[in-house]
Amino acid sequence: MCGSSQGIGLATAVELALLGATCILLARNEERLKKVLSTLDTSNGQQHRYVVADFAELAQVAAVAAKVAAEGPIHILINNTGGRAAGAVLAASAAAFTAAFSQHLLCNQTLAQAVVPGMIKAGYGRIINIISTSVKTPIKNLGVSNTTRWAVAAWSKTLATELAPHGITVNNVLPGSTSTARLEGLFNSSAAARNVTTDVIEAEWLKDIPMQRFGEAREIAALAAFLASPAASYITGTSTAVDGGKTPVM
Ligand SMILES: NC(=O)c1ccc[n+]([C@@H]2O[C@H](COP(=O)([O-])OP(=O)(O)OC[C@H]3O[C@@H](n4cnc5c(N)ncnc54)[C@H](OP(=O)(O)O)[C@@H]3O)[C@@H](O)[C@H]2O)c1
Repeated sequence: MCGSSQGIGLATAVELALLGATCILLARNEERLKKVLSTLDTSNGQQHRYVVADFAELAQVAAVAAKVAAEGPIHILINNTGGRAAGAVLAASAAAFTAAFSQHLLCNQTLAQAVVPGMIKAGYGRIINIISTSVKTPIKNLGVSNTTRWAVAAWSKTLATELAPHGITVNNVLPGSTSTARLEGLFNSSAAARNVTTDVIEAEWLKDIPMQRFGEAREIAALAAFLASPAASYITGTSTAVDGGKTPVM
C-alpha cells in the first residue's frame, strides 16, 4: 500500500486491515510508517510490515517491489504517492514533467510488473490507483499534475483490459478536495501566491463543492477498500470520483 504513512494511503491501510488484509506499507518516512504499523487492526492474526522507498527514485522502487514480490503473492496493489507542486502548465519545465511521469506513471508500471505474475498465480488481483478528479476535469493551476494524471488514467484503462481475462481488476479512485496534508499544502501555496489568508482560499474552494465540506481520507479509503474486495469482482477499468459532487461532468 503505497503512500501509506499519512492521508488517503494511511486511511486505506486502516480500512483494509479492518477487512482482514495483511498490509505492506510503503513510503519514505520510516518513523511515521512504524507509528502507522502499530495502529493497524490485527484481529485476523495479520503481521503487517513496511518497506521504505522513494517514488522519486525509480530504481529503488523497482528493487523494493521485486524483493516484496519474491516474498509471496501480493493480492492488492494500492498505487498512491504525493501530489505535484501547483503551477501553470506553460511555466512548467521539462524536468518537472519528467519527474512527475516517473513518480506517478513509471512507478505504478514498475510495481504492477512486479506483482501481477503473483496475482495471476494466486487467482486474485486488485490494482487501485489513487489519482484525482482532474482525470474528469482539469484543476486550475495544477498543470503538470493534470497532464500526468491523464496519462496514469490511460495506462490504468489499458492495463484493465489486458488483465481482465485473468480476473484481475484495475480501477481508479479520484479524490476531490480531502482534508489531508496535501490539501493544506495547496491552500498554503495558493494563499501565498495571491497574498491572501488560507481562510479565503478555503472558502473559495468550498463554494464549488455541492456538499459544502471537504472530504475525509476515510471516505476516499472506503471506495478503495470496496474495489479491493471480492464484492467488486466485475468492476474494472473505472474512474470514480469521491468528491461531494464537485466534478461537473457525468
Ligand atoms: N487530498 C486531496 O485533496 C487530494 C485531491 C485529489 C488528489 N489527491 C491525490 O491523492 C494522493 C494522496 O493524497 P493525500 O492527500 O493523501 O496526500 P498526503 O497527505 O500528502 O500523503 C501522501 C503520501 O504519499 C507519500 N509520498 C509522498 N511522496 C512520496 C515519494 N516520493 N515516495 C514515496 N512516497 C511518497 C507520503 O509519505 P512520505 O512523506 O512518508 O513518503 C504520504 O504517505 C496524492 O497523489 C494527491 O495529489 C489528493
